[in-house]
Amino acid sequence: MRLATEHVRRMRGGAQAHLMRCDDGGYYIVKFRNNPQHLRVLANEMLATRLAARLGLCVPQVEVVEVRPELIAYTSELVIQLGVGRTPCSAGKQFGSQFPGNPARMTVHDFLPDEQLGGVRNLSDFLGIFVFDKWTCNTNGRQAIFFREPEDLTGPAPDQTRYVAPYMAMMIDHGFCFNAGEWDFPDAPLRSLYARHRVYQSVTGMDAFEPWLDRLEKRITEAVLGEEAGHIPPEWYEDNWDALERLLERLYARRKRVRELILAARNSGRDPFPNWKVRHA
Ligand SMILES: Nc1ncnc2c1ncn2[C@@H]1O[C@H](COP(=O)(O)OP(=O)(O)OP(=O)(O)O)[C@@H](O)[C@H]1O
Ligand SMILES: [Mg+2]
Repeated sequence: MRLATEHVRRMRGGAQAHLMRCDDGGYYIVKFRNNPQHLRVLANEMLATRLAARLGLCVPQVEVVEVRPELIAYTSELVIQLGVGRTPCSAGKQFGSQFPGNPARMTVHDFLPDEQLGGVRNLSDFLGIFVFDKWTCNTNGRQAIFFREPEDLTGPAPDQTRYVAPYMAMMIDHGFCFNAGEWDFPDAPLRSLYARHRVYQSVTGMDAFEPWLDRLEKRITEAVLGEEAGHIPPEWYEDNWDALERLLERLYARRKRVRELILAARNSGRDPFPNWKVRHA
């Protein structure tokens, strides 16, 4: 667990998260228990982000962040804006998603133009996260941030010219996995696609997703699901152990359905994978 020591700034977005510095010297995007979306958004972020990391996807480090009542009382910006009026952010255990560096020195982009997207170092993570989002029924659009790794900026230039490191994509915002507060799975063909279909250009068939489907089926055992769920503070799901158990059971069973869900996206008419080759018998 981390302790928040300083408020930096408010972030944009429906959960009204805040960038905060913590006692480990790191910076975290903090979502509060009384965010306007749902309490379970915190539980979803913790569980889903950890499971995505198990698949080998580039995701932020996630932590429980303790925010003391004094910090809230002395920071006028630490409020949740309501339709009419505002209420202080809740104290106690909140969710933190680590900023991948020092925000004063590192630029993080929410979007990249198509020309630069093609050069993203881990572009294939968009195929992995599509498998993941279908599996977890993420009912929000896929979101990623892009940044250049700091070590790439300090290393020697390979050819003595000015070396510009490629961007890394980091998958963020898992609050709406498991359909946000509902903890159910209303599957729909076009859900979970990244808005820029350029990231799917390499897809010529189901083979593109097979390495990720294989990891999902082999690495995500019942024990792993239980272990990762153990990192969620029970107050983030109101001690509703039955609901959590049911969620984990359904997740375990759904691992085998992802191929079918990908095919539904492929056949949806929106043609997200234009290079998918039709196989003739
Ligand atoms: N780990 C992180 N590192 C850097 N920036 C982040 C991180 N997590 C979130 N952000 C930034 O904070 C913003 C809000 O985060 P997020 O999308 O998770 O919350 P949200 O309130 O659900 O947003 P929205 O309603 O726009 O989807 C993101 O657009 C992104 O710019
Ligand atoms: Mg978001």
